Amino acid sequence: MKKLEGKVALVTGGGSGIGRATALAFAHEGAKVVIAGRGAERGNETVQLIKQAGGEAVFVKTNVSKAAEVEALVNRVVETYGRLDYAFNNSGVGASGARLARETEETWDRTINTNLKGVWLCMKYEILQMLKQGGGAIVNCSSTFGVGGGYRIAAYSASKHGVVGLTKSAAMDYAKDNIRVNAVCPGWIKTDMLRPVLKDRLDIAEGRVPEVPLGRMGAPEEVAEAVVWLCTESASFITGDAMVIGGGTALSAL
Ligand SMILES: NC(=O)c1ccc[n+]([C@@H]2O[C@H](COP(=O)([O-])OP(=O)(O)OC[C@H]3O[C@@H](n4cnc5c(N)ncnc54)[C@H](OP(=O)(O)O)[C@@H]3O)[C@@H](O)[C@H]2O)c1
Repeated sequence: MKKLEGKVALVTGGGSGIGRATALAFAHEGAKVVIAGRGAERGNETVQLIKQAGGEAVFVKTNVSKAAEVEALVNRVVETYGRLDYAFNNSGVGASGARLARETEETWDRTINTNLKGVWLCMKYEILQMLKQGGGAIVNCSSTFGVGGGYRIAAYSASKHGVVGLTKSAAMDYAKDNIRVNAVCPGWIKTDMLRPVLKDRLDIAEGRVPEVPLGRMGAPEEVAEAVVWLCTESASFITGDAMVIGGGTALSAL
């Protein structure tokens, strides 16, 4: 019997990168998986990958910054699989690369609406369902920029600090209801999001990453392992944590 047999997991942004790796990891442990995102093609690709590996999954087209769409998403999860045990609120947009005073209002709104409001909306409807069932586990995707600042990343960093605050307060609000809420704070993970940052970095193309003490970028699967573990009974006494998965990034005060 697999560890998560009979369980149902929701992964937002499951059509690519860290979300896809996590959807596959949940399915590998036996969970049925609902993948949410705006892009149907890539969401359905993840569904196919899970089915090819012998698992069960569906894609639900969703913009996480719209309350009605998130409510409909959670309703679809329950209509399709009867319950919701785990959620990975992972959808996000990257940084524009502008310094604070050059950031546009449009970019600020998109960043906050997706990365922060999106996580709040997802938790809101997930928790309402989990309360009906008597419990569940949620993991939110923050970043190493959710625990420290950085150059040219103010809006993104603000959104990811917000995710850590939401996570801690939600964990306290629902601890007595058997709902655990944690965050992961990934460092440099090789996904499409980092493509614009990496395109001019010859050292990284050659395998050297001076910003990361472990000396390399992380793989999406290394975040996925932690997310699934945080949802299992192995992490039963952990709630409100913001787990940094960054190969040592964010350790230095300099
Ligand atoms: N890669 C890194 O180094 C790194 C480091 C720290 C944190 N993170 C965080 O990890 C998460 C996943 O990013 P990734 O690196 O895997 O990059 P990615 O491949 O670009 O994934 C981002 C996902 O978010 C989805 N998304 C964006 N806006 C959305 C919206 N409004 N509604 C629903 N889904 C939306 C995208 O799907 P659609 O476009 O199809 O909607 C996409 O699948 C993000 O929250 C990111 O901030 C990444």
